[in-house]
Amino acid sequence: MKRDSAFIVAVLTGIAAVMGVAFLVTFSTAVSLAQEGKPKDAKPIFTKFECNGCHSLQAAGIKKQVSAESGEEDAPDLSGVGTKRTADWIAKFLLKKETIDGKKHEKKFKGSTEELDTLSKWLATMKSGSAGKK
Ligand code: HEC
Repeated sequence: MKRDSAFIVAVLTGIAAVMGVAFLVTFSTAVSLAQEGKPKDAKPIFTKFECNGCHSLQAAGIKKQVSAESGEEDAPDLSGVGTKRTADWIAKFLLKKETIDGKKHEKKFKGSTEELDTLSKWLATMKSGSAGKK
């Protein structure tokens, strides 16, 4: 009899452990799904690929890196880019599949598809109205 109850306790503990893991898995999946709704912060991607070598993004507190060799004066601040561009357009533009007045972007994006996706979705949320300001 004693052995039986020890066995039952062991089985119940096992079931509880499995359910605990299942719960955690379900829970963390739900959390990551919920996060998919809003764009992730792509500031690290923006600086990693040195977009700030030419662009400022004042809305996200990013200043243009002024270096001696980059004499780029014509790149716009991107704080309001989301007021006129969609994430889709930005992604294509960064891959040089879209143009502005027949001109392609100066730099082709070299990161992963995922990084491009995160970056362009994030940029599309930049709507602080200073689009076009140079
Ligand atoms: C070598 C300089 C340079 C670098 C580096 C650069 N850009 Fe640009 N970018 C430009 C210039 C110049 C324009 C303006 C093109 C035009 O108006 O014809 C532009 C335009 C854009 C636009 C369109 C803005 C608009 O008003 O529609 C987006 C979006 C953009 N860049 C994003 C990026 C991102 C993201 C990166 C980093 C992956 C990046 N740029 C890196 C020079 C650069």
